[in-house]
Amino acid sequence: MNRKYRKTIIAGNWKMNKTPSETKEFMTTFKSILPKGRWCDVVFCVPAVCIPAAVRAMRETRVGIGGENMNANASGAYTGEIAANMLVDAGCKYVIIGHSERRAMGETDADVNAKVLAALEAGLTPIMCCGESLEQREAGITEEWITMQIKAGLLNVPEDKIRKVIIAYEPIWAIGTGRTATPEQAEEVCESIRTVIRKLYSSKNARAISILYGGSMNEKNAFELLAQPDIDGGLIGGASLVPEKFVQIIEAANQPTA
Ligand code: 13P
Repeated sequence: MNRKYRKTIIAGNWKMNKTPSETKEFMTTFKSILPKGRWCDVVFCVPAVCIPAAVRAMRETRVGIGGENMNANASGAYTGEIAANMLVDAGCKYVIIGHSERRAMGETDADVNAKVLAALEAGLTPIMCCGESLEQREAGITEEWITMQIKAGLLNVPEDKIRKVIIAYEPIWAIGTGRTATPEQAEEVCESIRTVIRKLYSSKNARAISILYGGSMNEKNAFELLAQPDIDGGLIGGASLVPEKFVQIIEAANQPTA
C-alpha cells in the first residue's frame, strides 16, 4: 500500500452466496463491529438481488456496494442481463468486471473492455480482474499474459478516466483454493501491472491507480500482503462472507505505509 498516492480498498466479492435476507443479517452484524477509524475504502460486491438490501443497510455509512458483473449494452433484448445504469440506479458505485469465473464462462478480453468502457460511461468504478492459470505460471508467461489482459481490457480508456479504474490481480490457482500467492509473488505481478499503466498512460497515473490482490486472502495473510508497496488492497471471496474475518482484513489495512 502507499496511502500517500492512492486509495487502499478492501472489497468483498460474495459470488453466488447469500440471499437478500442473509444480506440484511450480515450487514447488521458487520456494521456493529466495523471499526470507526478506517484507513481504507470498504466495498461489497454482491449478487444482483442482494443489492437493494446491501444499499439500504449501508446508507448511512461510507461502505460502497457493487455488482459482480454487468452487460456492456445500455438496454435491449438480453434476457437475464443487467445494464450499468441499472446498477447505478440501484445504488451501486462499483462493478467487478472480467472475474476469472466469468471468463471461464466465455467472457473474452474484448467483452471485458466493452464492459469497462460502459461502466466508466455510466459513472461506475470498474474493478477489472486479471490473472494467470497455474499452467501459465509454470510456463513462465505470467507477466506477458497479465500485460496482454491489462492492455486489452483498458483499450480506449482515456487518460482522464484511468484513475477511476481499480485493477484486481487474481491468480486463478489461488482463488478458493487456500493456496495464496506469497507476498513476493503477488507484489511482483502488481508492480508489473503498475509498469504497464505507466507505459500506457503516465507515471502520475500509474502512481495513483489502486491495484488489489485476490485469491485466498484472509484475516491471517492480509497484513503481509497489504504491506507490499504495490498491493493497494484486496478482493476477497470466502473471507468476505464472515463479518468478523472481513473486519480483521480491514484492520490489517490500518498499518503504516511508505
Ligand atoms: P477467495 O478469496 O475465496 O479465494 O476468492 C477470491 C476471489 O475470486 C475474489 O474475487
